[in-house]
Amino acid sequence: MSRTSDLTGRDVEAARAQEQARTFDHLHPAVADTVHDTLSEFRRHCPVAHSEAHGGMFVVTRFDDLKHVAEHGETFSSAAEVGAVVVAPETGGVIAPLFEQDLTEHAAWRRHLQPFFTPRAAARHTDYVRKVAAEVVAELAPRGAADFVPDLCARIPPLVVASLMGIPEPERPVLASLVRRLSGATTEQEAAAVGKEYTEFLLAQIRSRRGRSGEDVLTSVANSEIGGKVASDHELLKFAFLLVAAGNLTTTDQLASILLQLAQDSALRARVVADVALIPQLVEESVRHESAVAATGRTVVTETELAGVALRPGDRMLLTWGSGNRDERYFPDGDEFRLGRPRKPHLGWGAGAHRCLGLHLARVELRVICEELLAVIPDFALPDGFVPQRTYGVIRGVKALPVTWPV
Ligand code: HEM
Repeated sequence: MSRTSDLTGRDVEAARAQEQARTFDHLHPAVADTVHDTLSEFRRHCPVAHSEAHGGMFVVTRFDDLKHVAEHGETFSSAAEVGAVVVAPETGGVIAPLFEQDLTEHAAWRRHLQPFFTPRAAARHTDYVRKVAAEVVAELAPRGAADFVPDLCARIPPLVVASLMGIPEPERPVLASLVRRLSGATTEQEAAAVGKEYTEFLLAQIRSRRGRSGEDVLTSVANSEIGGKVASDHELLKFAFLLVAAGNLTTTDQLASILLQLAQDSALRARVVADVALIPQLVEESVRHESAVAATGRTVVTETELAGVALRPGDRMLLTWGSGNRDERYFPDGDEFRLGRPRKPHLGWGAGAHRCLGLHLARVELRVICEELLAVIPDFALPDGFVPQRTYGVIRGVKALPVTWPV
């Protein structure tokens, strides 16, 4: 083939990828099955691709560009004026401390919260996670069958995040049930009704902590001047909503991806069962390979350029973390799940100032739940011919894992 026709072929592919990017919508159900192939095309041909979805956005797909955006909060803001997250009506217009702040305000919150999220602080949750995981696994074991998504993955993370926030043990199932009902709501009316109940629950938790002392996250932020002021009830409400979402949906979906991998690959499962010291590697490779946080947003605040694309204030950026984690420049055969890959930083926990604050806690949860499960149910299988259905959107998981095991 001549050099000219080769170039032409590449141009045609690039034009096709750009056309595909124009309608790319990460929230559309059809994306669930095709997202990795689509983003791989964008990485090759239009790494900062423009989509017209959601009022227009630039889809950032390469490792270096994602890292650059995440590390430059002065240019790419986390403030979500266009409603990147759906929360209770009471929080409309309120900036969520930490999550939606930039630079010095963000740094003040981050510094304040850091002690609750160090590796040592995360390790203090080990016994509680183990206790709850052991109870859930003991309840499931004699049944010989379960859908691991609702019956296991979704049950533990909301209790752990409730514990982190200092919600007393008897009330933690209330939070777990509100979260479950909210994500399972099928109509707008139902979502609004559960949202109202959820708001009331969290507001009561926040208000009851004012003027009290305590060792938990919510008591601490309700009684401290952070960045020069005490946060209002509604700021704390939005913070609490986002903390629950950050700690719960992510860990639930990541666990589902890990268990899907183990169910589909019996050799991998046998290896991990035989050597549980491999579990931390299993967890980390899953966060790289199928990052539960598929995409989050930023807004451009000053004129700039990324991968040759001119950006103006107000432009929205979609950071596709999972795409960066399969960028062939950093992760050869990135589509493959492989234990024992050379250790390298990946983007499954994000990057820069907003890099996941809860990553040590997430690692503890995922490791301990896997340990407890594999010790009692080492041999679970999906039905023959089972085709997993992925969930889609900002968070990426698995719809169902209908497994059986010998009893
Ligand atoms: C496997 C589970 C998890 C994954 C894959 C994950 C991933 C991420 C990612 C990618 C970000 C960065 C978002 C951005 O910059 O736009 C983030 C932020 C954050 N995560 Fe996690 N996360 C997980 C679990 C947790 C847990 C268990 C907690 C705590 C309970 C947590 C708390 C947070 C917080 C507070 C932030 C915001 C940090 C900031 O804005 O400074 N995460 N997470």
